[in-house]
Amino acid sequence: MPRINKTAILALLIATSSVFLLFQLYYYRQYMSKHGTRSNGKAVQVGVNAQSQVVKTFLGLVTKYNLPVFLIDTTTLSHLLQESPQPRDPQDSLCRSFCTHRDVTTFALLAKLWKYDASLAQTAAERGLEFLEVRGKDPRLVGLDDLSGTEIPLHFLFRLNGNAVHLLVFYERSGNYLWHGALRLKPNMDRKFVSFRKLDFGRQAGAYDRPELVPASVDGLDVRIPKNISRFLNEHAQARFLECRYKDARAFYQLYPDDTSPEAMDFRLKAKSLLHLAARTLGELGVPFWLSSGTCLGWFRQCNVIPYSKDVDLGIWIKDYRPDIIPAFQKSGLPLKHKFGKVEDSLELSFQGLDVKVDIFFFYEEDDIVWNGGTQAKSGKKFKYVFPKFALCWTELVELKVRVPCETLDYVEANYGPNWNTPVKTWDWKTSPSNVKENGVWPVREWDEVIQVY
Ligand SMILES: *[C@@H]1O[C@H](CO)[C@@H](O)[C@H](O)[C@H]1NC(C)=O
Repeated sequence: MPRINKTAILALLIATSSVFLLFQLYYYRQYMSKHGTRSNGKAVQVGVNAQSQVVKTFLGLVTKYNLPVFLIDTTTLSHLLQESPQPRDPQDSLCRSFCTHRDVTTFALLAKLWKYDASLAQTAAERGLEFLEVRGKDPRLVGLDDLSGTEIPLHFLFRLNGNAVHLLVFYERSGNYLWHGALRLKPNMDRKFVSFRKLDFGRQAGAYDRPELVPASVDGLDVRIPKNISRFLNEHAQARFLECRYKDARAFYQLYPDDTSPEAMDFRLKAKSLLHLAARTLGELGVPFWLSSGTCLGWFRQCNVIPYSKDVDLGIWIKDYRPDIIPAFQKSGLPLKHKFGKVEDSLELSFQGLDVKVDIFFFYEEDDIVWNGGTQAKSGKKFKYVFPKFALCWTELVELKVRVPCETLDYVEANYGPNWNTPVKTWDWKTSPSNVKENGVWPVREWDEVIQVY
Protein backbone atom coordinates (compact mmCIF):
# COMPACT_ATOMS: atom_id res chain seq x y z
CA MET A 1 0.00 0.00 0.00
CA PRO A 2 1.38 3.42 -0.84
CA ARG A 3 1.93 5.72 2.12
CA ILE A 4 -0.47 8.62 2.12
CA ASN A 5 0.61 11.95 3.41
CA LYS A 6 -1.93 13.06 6.01
CA THR A 7 -1.11 16.71 5.57
CA ALA A 8 -1.79 16.46 1.87
CA ILE A 9 -5.21 14.94 2.52
CA LEU A 10 -6.06 17.62 5.02
CA ALA A 11 -5.02 20.33 2.58
CA LEU A 12 -7.16 18.73 -0.11
CA LEU A 13 -10.14 18.57 2.22
CA ILE A 14 -9.82 22.20 3.17
CA ALA A 15 -9.48 23.18 -0.46
CA THR A 16 -12.60 21.20 -1.48
CA SER A 17 -14.74 22.57 1.28
CA SER A 18 -13.66 26.12 0.51
CA VAL A 19 -14.64 25.61 -3.10
CA PHE A 20 -17.94 24.21 -1.89
CA LEU A 21 -18.46 27.21 0.38
CA LEU A 22 -17.70 29.54 -2.48
CA PHE A 23 -20.26 27.73 -4.58
CA GLN A 24 -22.84 28.05 -1.87
CA LEU A 25 -22.13 31.75 -1.62
CA TYR A 26 -22.41 32.05 -5.38
CA TYR A 27 -25.76 30.27 -5.48
CA TYR A 28 -27.01 32.27 -2.55
CA ARG A 29 -26.22 35.50 -4.43
CA GLN A 30 -27.85 34.18 -7.57
CA TYR A 31 -30.81 33.10 -5.55
CA MET A 32 -31.17 36.49 -3.89
CA SER A 33 -30.90 38.40 -7.14
CA LYS A 34 -33.33 36.11 -8.96
CA HIS A 35 -35.66 36.02 -6.06
CA GLY A 36 -35.86 39.78 -6.07
CA THR A 37 -37.47 40.01 -9.47
CA ARG A 38 -40.22 38.23 -11.27
CA SER A 39 -39.72 37.06 -14.82
CA ASN A 40 -41.88 39.91 -16.05
CA GLY A 41 -39.44 42.34 -14.50
CA LYS A 42 -41.68 43.69 -11.77
CA ALA A 43 -39.84 43.85 -8.49
CA VAL A 44 -40.95 41.56 -5.71
CA GLN A 45 -39.01 41.89 -2.53
CA VAL A 46 -37.46 38.97 -0.75
CA GLY A 47 -38.84 38.35 2.70
CA VAL A 48 -41.85 40.49 2.10
CA ASN A 49 -43.83 37.54 0.90
CA ALA A 50 -45.00 36.05 4.14
CA GLN A 51 -46.53 33.00 2.49
CA SER A 52 -43.29 31.92 0.90
CA GLN A 53 -41.43 32.64 4.16
CA VAL A 54 -43.61 30.47 6.34
CA VAL A 55 -43.52 27.64 3.77
CA LYS A 56 -39.70 27.76 3.70
CA THR A 57 -39.39 27.81 7.45
CA PHE A 58 -41.90 24.99 7.73
CA LEU A 59 -40.06 22.87 5.15
CA GLY A 60 -36.81 23.44 7.05
CA LEU A 61 -38.48 22.18 10.19
CA VAL A 62 -39.96 19.06 8.60
CA THR A 63 -36.60 18.24 7.00
CA LYS A 64 -34.98 18.32 10.43
CA TYR A 65 -37.65 15.96 11.77
CA ASN A 66 -37.73 13.77 8.67
CA LEU A 67 -41.46 14.30 8.35
CA PRO A 68 -42.61 12.88 5.00
CA VAL A 69 -45.01 15.71 4.20
CA PHE A 70 -46.60 16.33 0.83
CA LEU A 71 -48.23 19.33 -0.70
CA ILE A 72 -52.02 19.26 -0.97
CA ASP A 73 -52.73 22.96 -1.18
CA THR A 74 -55.38 23.27 -3.87
CA THR A 75 -54.41 26.74 -5.11
CA THR A 76 -50.75 25.82 -5.39
CA LEU A 77 -51.56 22.48 -7.04
CA SER A 78 -53.89 24.16 -9.55
CA HIS A 79 -51.08 26.57 -10.29
CA LEU A 80 -48.67 23.68 -10.90
CA LEU A 81 -51.21 21.97 -13.12
CA GLN A 82 -51.41 25.02 -15.34
CA GLU A 83 -47.69 25.49 -15.71
CA SER A 84 -46.55 21.88 -15.58
CA PRO A 85 -44.21 20.28 -16.35
CA GLN A 86 -42.30 22.01 -13.59
CA PRO A 87 -38.66 22.50 -14.43
CA ARG A 88 -36.58 20.56 -11.93
CA ASP A 89 -34.01 23.30 -11.84
CA PRO A 90 -32.65 24.02 -8.36
CA GLN A 91 -32.01 27.60 -9.37
CA ASP A 92 -35.61 28.14 -10.30
CA SER A 93 -36.45 29.94 -7.16
CA LEU A 94 -38.79 32.58 -8.49
CA CYS A 95 -41.64 32.75 -6.11
CA ARG A 96 -44.73 31.83 -8.06
CA SER A 97 -46.69 28.90 -6.69
CA PHE A 98 -46.14 29.82 -3.06
CA CYS A 99 -46.81 33.50 -3.60
CA THR A 100 -50.50 33.38 -4.34
CA HIS A 101 -51.40 35.92 -1.69
CA ARG A 102 -53.21 33.55 0.56
CA ASP A 103 -53.06 33.26 4.32
CA VAL A 104 -52.80 29.48 4.56
CA THR A 105 -50.83 26.85 2.61
CA THR A 106 -51.73 23.23 3.22
CA PHE A 107 -49.51 20.16 3.50
CA ALA A 108 -50.34 16.63 4.61
CA LEU A 109 -48.68 13.84 6.49
CA LEU A 110 -49.50 10.12 6.67
CA ALA A 111 -49.80 9.26 10.34
CA LYS A 112 -48.35 5.80 9.97
CA LEU A 113 -45.11 7.12 8.46
CA TRP A 114 -44.49 9.47 11.33
CA LYS A 115 -43.48 9.24 14.93
CA TYR A 116 -44.76 11.94 17.22
CA ASP A 117 -41.91 13.97 18.62
CA ALA A 118 -42.90 16.36 21.38
CA SER A 119 -39.87 18.56 20.72
CA LEU A 120 -41.43 19.67 17.42
CA ALA A 121 -43.32 22.47 19.12
CA GLN A 122 -40.21 23.82 20.78
CA THR A 123 -38.08 23.65 17.65
CA ALA A 124 -40.86 25.41 15.77
CA ALA A 125 -40.81 28.17 18.39
CA GLU A 126 -37.02 28.48 18.13
CA ARG A 127 -37.44 29.07 14.43
CA GLY A 128 -39.99 31.76 15.01
CA LEU A 129 -43.02 29.64 14.16
CA GLU A 130 -46.09 29.93 16.31
CA PHE A 131 -47.54 26.48 16.73
CA LEU A 132 -50.98 25.05 17.32
CA GLU A 133 -51.92 21.39 17.56
CA VAL A 134 -55.56 20.38 17.25
CA ARG A 135 -56.60 16.95 18.42
CA GLY A 136 -59.78 15.04 17.98
CA LYS A 137 -61.30 11.65 18.67
CA ASP A 138 -59.80 8.68 16.88
CA PRO A 139 -62.73 7.39 14.80
CA ARG A 140 -60.97 4.09 14.21
CA LEU A 141 -61.56 3.27 17.86
CA VAL A 142 -65.08 4.61 17.96
CA GLY A 143 -67.44 1.82 17.14
CA LEU A 144 -70.54 0.20 18.39
CA ASP A 145 -68.70 -1.32 21.33
CA ASP A 146 -66.45 1.54 22.22
CA LEU A 147 -67.58 5.13 22.13
CA SER A 148 -64.73 6.50 24.23
CA GLY A 149 -62.44 7.48 21.38
CA THR A 150 -58.84 8.28 22.26
CA GLU A 151 -57.69 11.69 21.07
CA ILE A 152 -55.16 11.84 18.27
CA PRO A 153 -53.42 14.75 16.54
CA LEU A 154 -55.50 15.80 13.53
CA HIS A 155 -54.07 19.16 12.54
CA PHE A 156 -50.98 21.25 13.07
CA LEU A 157 -50.82 24.94 12.32
CA PHE A 158 -47.60 26.93 12.02
CA ARG A 159 -47.69 30.69 11.79
CA LEU A 160 -45.12 33.29 10.89
CA ASN A 161 -45.88 36.97 10.32
CA GLY A 162 -49.60 36.29 10.17
CA ASN A 163 -49.25 33.65 7.48
CA ALA A 164 -49.83 29.98 8.18
CA VAL A 165 -49.01 26.47 7.09
CA HIS A 166 -51.74 23.96 7.81
CA LEU A 167 -50.43 20.41 8.23
CA LEU A 168 -53.20 17.86 7.92
CA VAL A 169 -52.71 14.38 9.38
CA PHE A 170 -54.15 11.57 7.27
CA TYR A 171 -55.03 8.30 8.96
CA GLU A 172 -55.53 5.04 7.15
CA ARG A 173 -58.86 3.42 7.83
CA SER A 174 -60.13 -0.08 7.41
CA GLY A 175 -61.45 0.37 3.90
CA ASN A 176 -57.86 1.10 2.85
CA TYR A 177 -58.45 4.80 2.35
CA LEU A 178 -57.15 8.00 3.90
CA TRP A 179 -59.24 9.96 6.36
CA HIS A 180 -58.75 13.35 7.97
CA GLY A 181 -60.80 14.84 10.74
CA ALA A 182 -62.57 18.16 10.96
CA LEU A 183 -60.69 20.97 12.63
CA ARG A 184 -62.59 21.79 15.79
CA LEU A 185 -61.06 24.34 18.13
CA LYS A 186 -61.25 23.67 21.83
CA PRO A 187 -62.56 26.52 23.98
CA ASN A 188 -59.08 27.40 25.26
CA MET A 189 -57.62 27.73 21.77
CA ASP A 190 -56.68 30.87 19.94
CA ARG A 191 -59.54 31.49 17.54
CA LYS A 192 -57.59 34.17 15.75
CA PHE A 193 -54.67 31.86 15.01
CA VAL A 194 -55.82 31.47 11.45
CA SER A 195 -58.88 32.46 9.50
CA PHE A 196 -60.74 29.17 9.61
CA ARG A 197 -63.07 30.18 6.84
CA LYS A 198 -60.08 30.27 4.55
CA LEU A 199 -59.03 26.70 5.22
CA ASP A 200 -58.89 24.46 2.19
CA PHE A 201 -59.17 21.33 4.31
CA GLY A 202 -60.63 20.58 7.69
CA ARG A 203 -63.87 22.49 7.80
CA GLN A 204 -65.32 18.99 7.47
CA ALA A 205 -63.86 15.51 7.71
CA GLY A 206 -62.69 14.11 4.37
CA ALA A 207 -61.81 10.82 2.68
CA TYR A 208 -59.32 10.15 -0.13
CA ASP A 209 -57.72 7.29 -1.96
CA ARG A 210 -54.04 7.09 -1.15
CA PRO A 211 -52.38 9.29 -3.78
CA GLU A 212 -49.21 8.28 -5.56
CA LEU A 213 -46.62 10.94 -4.78
CA VAL A 214 -43.79 12.33 -6.88
CA PRO A 215 -40.97 14.74 -6.04
CA ALA A 216 -41.25 18.21 -7.51
CA SER A 217 -39.51 21.51 -7.29
CA VAL A 218 -41.96 24.25 -6.46
CA ASP A 219 -40.50 27.74 -6.46
CA GLY A 220 -37.12 26.06 -6.05
CA LEU A 221 -38.23 24.16 -2.96
CA ASP A 222 -38.19 20.36 -2.96
CA VAL A 223 -41.60 18.99 -2.07
CA ARG A 224 -43.64 15.93 -2.85
CA ILE A 225 -46.93 16.32 -4.67
CA PRO A 226 -49.70 13.96 -5.83
CA LYS A 227 -48.66 12.46 -9.17
CA ASN A 228 -52.07 12.98 -10.73
CA ILE A 229 -52.90 16.50 -9.59
CA SER A 230 -56.23 16.73 -11.36
CA ARG A 231 -57.42 13.49 -9.80
CA PHE A 232 -56.49 14.78 -6.36
CA LEU A 233 -58.27 18.10 -7.00
CA ASN A 234 -61.37 16.22 -8.19
CA GLU A 235 -61.32 14.14 -5.04
CA HIS A 236 -60.94 17.25 -2.93
CA ALA A 237 -64.04 18.79 -4.47
CA GLN A 238 -66.15 15.90 -3.16
CA ALA A 239 -64.22 14.57 -0.19
CA ARG A 240 -66.65 15.27 2.63
CA PHE A 241 -66.85 12.31 4.98
CA LEU A 242 -69.72 11.38 7.31
CA GLU A 243 -69.08 9.20 10.32
CA CYS A 244 -71.70 6.61 11.07
CA ARG A 245 -74.03 7.56 13.95
CA TYR A 246 -72.60 4.97 16.31
CA LYS A 247 -74.30 6.36 19.39
CA ASP A 248 -77.76 6.22 17.80
CA ALA A 249 -77.02 2.83 16.30
CA ARG A 250 -76.15 1.52 19.74
CA ALA A 251 -79.41 2.90 21.10
CA PHE A 252 -81.22 1.20 18.23
CA TYR A 253 -79.63 -2.17 19.05
CA GLN A 254 -80.61 -1.78 22.68
CA LEU A 255 -84.23 -1.54 21.60
CA TYR A 256 -83.96 -4.11 18.83
CA PRO A 257 -81.16 -6.58 19.54
CA ASP A 258 -79.11 -7.52 16.52
CA ASP A 259 -79.90 -10.73 14.70
CA THR A 260 -76.82 -12.90 15.16
CA SER A 261 -78.27 -16.14 13.79
CA PRO A 262 -76.09 -18.08 11.32
CA GLU A 263 -78.48 -17.06 8.50
CA ALA A 264 -78.11 -13.38 9.34
CA MET A 265 -74.32 -13.65 9.57
CA ASP A 266 -74.25 -15.52 6.27
CA PHE A 267 -76.38 -12.89 4.56
CA ARG A 268 -74.18 -10.08 5.88
CA LEU A 269 -71.01 -11.77 4.64
CA LYS A 270 -72.53 -12.25 1.19
CA ALA A 271 -73.88 -8.70 1.09
CA LYS A 272 -70.46 -7.40 2.10
CA SER A 273 -68.58 -9.22 -0.64
CA LEU A 274 -71.25 -8.25 -3.18
CA LEU A 275 -70.95 -4.60 -2.19
CA HIS A 276 -67.16 -4.76 -2.51
CA LEU A 277 -67.46 -6.41 -5.92
CA ALA A 278 -70.03 -3.89 -7.18
CA ALA A 279 -67.86 -1.01 -5.91
CA ARG A 280 -64.82 -2.38 -7.71
CA THR A 281 -66.79 -2.93 -10.92
CA LEU A 282 -68.30 0.57 -10.96
CA GLY A 283 -65.01 2.09 -9.76
CA GLU A 284 -63.17 0.66 -12.77
CA LEU A 285 -65.74 2.32 -15.03
CA GLY A 286 -65.45 5.57 -13.09
CA VAL A 287 -69.18 5.53 -12.31
CA PRO A 288 -70.01 7.09 -8.93
CA PHE A 289 -72.76 5.43 -6.89
CA TRP A 290 -74.29 5.67 -3.44
CA LEU A 291 -76.06 3.43 -0.97
CA SER A 292 -79.79 3.61 -1.58
CA SER A 293 -83.02 2.30 -0.02
CA GLY A 294 -82.51 -0.45 2.55
CA THR A 295 -78.73 -0.46 2.33
CA CYS A 296 -78.67 3.27 3.07
CA LEU A 297 -81.15 2.81 5.92
CA GLY A 298 -78.97 0.04 7.35
CA TRP A 299 -75.93 2.28 7.37
CA PHE A 300 -77.79 5.27 8.79
CA ARG A 301 -79.78 3.46 11.45
CA GLN A 302 -77.52 0.65 12.56
CA CYS A 303 -74.10 1.10 10.89
CA ASN A 304 -74.46 -2.26 9.23
CA VAL A 305 -76.31 -4.24 6.59
CA ILE A 306 -79.89 -5.07 7.64
CA PRO A 307 -79.84 -8.88 7.77
CA TYR A 308 -83.37 -9.41 6.45
CA SER A 309 -83.05 -6.90 3.61
CA LYS A 310 -82.46 -9.61 0.91
CA ASP A 311 -80.48 -7.43 -1.47
CA VAL A 312 -78.04 -4.58 -1.87
CA ASP A 313 -79.43 -1.29 -3.23
CA LEU A 314 -77.35 1.29 -5.06
CA GLY A 315 -78.18 4.63 -6.65
CA ILE A 316 -76.51 6.14 -9.74
CA TRP A 317 -77.23 9.44 -11.48
CA ILE A 318 -78.68 8.78 -14.92
CA LYS A 319 -76.11 11.17 -16.39
CA ASP A 320 -73.45 8.68 -15.28
CA TYR A 321 -75.14 5.77 -17.07
CA ARG A 322 -72.89 3.92 -19.49
CA PRO A 323 -73.92 1.00 -21.70
CA ASP A 324 -70.85 -0.95 -20.58
CA ILE A 325 -72.19 -1.21 -17.01
CA ILE A 326 -74.06 -4.41 -17.88
CA PRO A 327 -71.10 -6.23 -19.54
CA ALA A 328 -68.81 -5.05 -16.72
CA PHE A 329 -71.05 -6.67 -14.07
CA GLN A 330 -71.31 -9.81 -16.17
CA LYS A 331 -67.51 -9.93 -16.39
CA SER A 332 -67.41 -9.66 -12.59
CA GLY A 333 -69.53 -12.80 -12.41
CA LEU A 334 -72.82 -11.04 -11.74
CA PRO A 335 -75.33 -11.87 -14.49
CA LEU A 336 -78.16 -9.47 -15.33
CA LYS A 337 -81.35 -10.54 -13.56
CA HIS A 338 -83.64 -7.85 -14.81
CA LYS A 339 -83.63 -4.57 -16.66
CA PHE A 340 -86.65 -2.33 -16.26
CA GLY A 341 -87.29 0.97 -17.97
CA LYS A 342 -84.99 2.72 -20.38
CA VAL A 343 -82.33 5.41 -20.17
CA GLU A 344 -84.90 8.17 -20.79
CA ASP A 345 -87.27 6.86 -18.12
CA SER A 346 -87.20 4.77 -14.93
CA LEU A 347 -84.09 2.71 -15.64
CA GLU A 348 -83.36 -0.01 -13.10
CA LEU A 349 -80.88 -2.89 -13.29
CA SER A 350 -80.59 -5.95 -11.12
CA PHE A 351 -77.63 -8.35 -11.02
CA GLN A 352 -77.56 -11.75 -9.37
CA GLY A 353 -74.79 -12.49 -6.90
CA LEU A 354 -74.42 -15.49 -4.64
CA ASP A 355 -77.95 -15.72 -3.11
CA VAL A 356 -78.00 -11.93 -2.92
CA LYS A 357 -78.76 -9.54 -5.72
CA VAL A 358 -77.68 -5.97 -6.28
CA ASP A 359 -80.34 -3.53 -7.47
CA ILE A 360 -79.19 -0.39 -9.22
CA PHE A 361 -81.65 2.49 -9.36
CA PHE A 362 -80.94 5.32 -11.74
CA PHE A 363 -81.89 8.77 -10.45
CA TYR A 364 -83.32 11.54 -12.59
CA GLU A 365 -82.86 15.19 -11.63
CA GLU A 366 -85.65 17.69 -11.94
CA ASP A 367 -85.92 21.32 -10.83
CA ASP A 368 -86.10 20.84 -7.09
CA ILE A 369 -86.45 17.07 -6.67
CA VAL A 370 -84.79 13.86 -7.81
CA TRP A 371 -86.57 10.59 -8.48
CA ASN A 372 -86.10 7.00 -9.50
CA GLY A 373 -88.58 4.65 -11.10
CA GLY A 374 -90.00 1.22 -10.44
CA THR A 375 -91.71 -1.26 -12.75
CA GLN A 376 -93.98 -4.20 -11.93
CA ALA A 377 -93.05 -6.93 -14.39
CA LYS A 378 -96.37 -8.72 -14.57
CA SER A 379 -98.60 -5.65 -15.01
CA GLY A 380 -96.26 -3.13 -16.63
CA LYS A 381 -97.22 -0.65 -13.91
CA LYS A 382 -94.80 2.20 -13.30
CA PHE A 383 -93.91 3.75 -9.95
CA LYS A 384 -91.99 6.82 -9.03
CA TYR A 385 -90.01 7.50 -5.84
CA VAL A 386 -89.40 11.17 -5.17
CA PHE A 387 -86.58 12.54 -2.99
CA PRO A 388 -85.40 16.02 -2.05
CA LYS A 389 -82.17 16.99 -3.79
CA PHE A 390 -78.96 15.86 -2.16
CA ALA A 391 -75.20 15.95 -2.49
CA LEU A 392 -72.94 12.94 -2.05
CA CYS A 393 -70.63 12.27 0.87
CA TRP A 394 -68.20 9.48 1.71
CA THR A 395 -68.65 7.12 4.57
CA GLU A 396 -67.57 3.61 5.55
CA LEU A 397 -69.72 0.50 5.57
CA VAL A 398 -68.50 -3.11 5.92
CA GLU A 399 -64.90 -1.90 5.50
CA LEU A 400 -65.67 -0.11 2.26
CA LYS A 401 -65.29 3.58 1.48
CA VAL A 402 -68.64 4.28 -0.09
CA ARG A 403 -70.95 7.23 -0.85
CA VAL A 404 -74.26 8.12 0.78
CA PRO A 405 -76.50 11.15 0.34
CA CYS A 406 -75.03 13.84 2.64
CA GLU A 407 -78.53 14.82 3.72
CA THR A 408 -79.08 11.23 4.77
CA LEU A 409 -81.89 11.88 7.21
CA ASP A 410 -83.97 13.65 4.54
CA TYR A 411 -83.28 10.84 2.12
CA VAL A 412 -84.17 8.09 4.57
CA GLU A 413 -87.22 9.98 5.81
CA ALA A 414 -88.47 10.54 2.27
CA ASN A 415 -88.20 6.83 1.60
CA TYR A 416 -89.27 5.34 4.92
CA GLY A 417 -91.29 8.07 6.60
CA PRO A 418 -90.92 9.47 10.11
CA ASN A 419 -90.86 5.97 11.66
CA TRP A 420 -87.74 4.86 9.80
CA ASN A 421 -86.17 4.10 13.18
CA THR A 422 -88.59 1.21 13.77
CA PRO A 423 -87.77 -2.04 11.98
CA VAL A 424 -90.38 -3.26 9.51
CA LYS A 425 -89.92 -6.79 8.26
CA THR A 426 -92.75 -6.93 5.76
CA TRP A 427 -92.04 -4.37 3.13
CA ASP A 428 -93.74 -3.94 -0.23
CA TRP A 429 -91.76 -1.78 -2.64
CA LYS A 430 -94.97 -0.78 -4.46
CA THR A 431 -96.93 0.43 -1.44
CA SER A 432 -94.74 0.72 1.67
CA PRO A 433 -92.37 3.58 0.78
CA SER A 434 -93.58 7.00 1.92
CA ASN A 435 -92.50 8.55 -1.36
CA VAL A 436 -93.97 6.05 -3.83
CA LYS A 437 -96.35 7.38 -6.50
CA GLU A 438 -98.17 5.48 -9.18
CA ASN A 439 -96.85 6.58 -12.53
CA GLY A 440 -99.04 4.99 -15.21
CA VAL A 441 -98.39 1.85 -17.23
CA TRP A 442 -95.78 1.10 -19.89
CA PRO A 443 -97.43 0.84 -23.35
CA VAL A 444 -97.63 -2.84 -24.31
CA ARG A 445 -95.60 -2.27 -27.49
CA GLU A 446 -92.67 -1.18 -25.32
CA TRP A 447 -92.73 -4.13 -22.95
CA ASP A 448 -90.04 -6.08 -24.79
CA GLU A 449 -87.70 -3.17 -24.22
CA VAL A 450 -88.67 -1.94 -20.76
CA ILE A 451 -89.44 -5.24 -19.03
CA GLN A 452 -86.55 -7.66 -19.39
CA VAL A 453 -86.42 -10.51 -16.90
CA TYR A 454 -83.74 -13.23 -17.06
C1 LIG B 1 -55.50 11.46 -13.79
O1 LIG B 1 -56.75 11.20 -13.22
C2 LIG B 1 -57.85 11.40 -14.09
C3 LIG B 1 -59.11 11.15 -13.30
O2 LIG B 1 -59.36 12.21 -12.45
C4 LIG B 1 -57.74 10.47 -15.28
O3 LIG B 1 -58.81 10.72 -16.17
C5 LIG B 1 -56.41 10.68 -15.96
O4 LIG B 1 -56.27 9.72 -16.97
C6 LIG B 1 -55.26 10.55 -14.98
N1 LIG B 1 -54.03 10.91 -15.62
C7 LIG B 1 -53.00 10.12 -15.63
C8 LIG B 1 -51.80 10.64 -16.36
O5 LIG B 1 -52.98 9.03 -15.11
